[in-house]
Amino acid sequence: MSTPAGFPGGPELFRLSPDVAHLNHGSFGAVPTPVARLHQELAAEAAADPDAFFLGVPDRVAEARGRVAAHLGADPEGIAFVTNATEAAQLSLDALGLDADDEVLVTDHGYGTVVAAAARRARTVTVPLDPTLPDEDAVREAVIAGLTPRTKVAVLDHISSPTARTVAGPRLLAELRERGVTTVVDGAHAPGMLAEPLAGEPDFWFGNLHKWAYAPPGSAVLAVAPAYRARVAAPVRSWEDERGFPRAVEYRATTDYTGWLAAPEGLGLIAGLGAESVRAHNSELARHGAELLAGIPGLTPLPYTEGLAMRSLRLPRSLARTQQEATALREEIAARLGCRVLIWPWPDGGGIRICAQIYNRAEEYERLAAGLRTLLADG
Ligand SMILES: Cc1ncc(COP(=O)(O)O)c(C=O)c1O
Repeated sequence: MSTPAGFPGGPELFRLSPDVAHLNHGSFGAVPTPVARLHQELAAEAAADPDAFFLGVPDRVAEARGRVAAHLGADPEGIAFVTNATEAAQLSLDALGLDADDEVLVTDHGYGTVVAAAARRARTVTVPLDPTLPDEDAVREAVIAGLTPRTKVAVLDHISSPTARTVAGPRLLAELRERGVTTVVDGAHAPGMLAEPLAGEPDFWFGNLHKWAYAPPGSAVLAVAPAYRARVAAPVRSWEDERGFPRAVEYRATTDYTGWLAAPEGLGLIAGLGAESVRAHNSELARHGAELLAGIPGLTPLPYTEGLAMRSLRLPRSLARTQQEATALREEIAARLGCRVLIWPWPDGGGIRICAQIYNRAEEYERLAAGLRTLLADG
């Protein structure tokens, strides 16, 4: 097993504590110092002359959106800054004007707050996706098999949180479109991780910038197909309300816009480092980490999507069967091993997800693997 080389200068770009192995970039991201510096400068600018800052904010947000759109390959008038994926899911579902007995397809890999948003607005039908389904085609077939004549909308992960694999690939989206099903794609992990985050022309797609795109927390985008844009309501109706999507969605009266204004810097940093090199490094390191964990008795690697910076393995059947058990194991790993990972619950035994980022080093996964082997053996 070859040990991947570290990304040159990677750890130095972040302010992460050296006492902890941060192997969970996918949950909350981390902000590199050049982005954090710009963010602070913007806050200082707002503090120094609030009138000038806030009067100029709508146009500056539009300009920042244009730069983000260029990085993502999106139409600058077809995306809006939003706070996070959870908010974007709610804005998308509200735009669809669902009735309580409309049927919305979700999967059991879907993210809790996103699935709950659908369930609050319509009748959801949950398609089970066996984590061991071998590939994207098998996932696609399982989703299509879960459609009923009443399915109006499908809410699908672009990259699933627990199992770190592609669900809403372009072929699945095309098949749903052919069947007249509106698609809402949770691309929380896509910006900064995928070369073409908007592939497949979903009707609604949202992605966090504060995960893999190195933006400050509270930075995400919602992309909406032209036919639906006029239906997206502003979360806070304010002075830009008359201007419609995307400005009406973005402008929320006097609030903190500095994260959005700093967001293009994150994607710019990735481009400057070489997006292809960042992706190659991260996926190679995630592969290495998964191979180390696969050597632990009781851990089973799961099928994965090539090129992603996250990998998941199944834990022994007696572990993480509930959220409470998963949380307890996660905290035990943090306290005893000094490693941050995601432990996801599943009824017949949950899983562990590891992430890789340019600040990670192979030794951190070696430490996790050695510690976890002992921890699981101790019971
Ligand atoms: C697939 C997926 N969707 C949505 C979210 C929620 O993101 P946020 O907390 O930014 O709303 C997450 C967070 O980890 C996620 O993994």
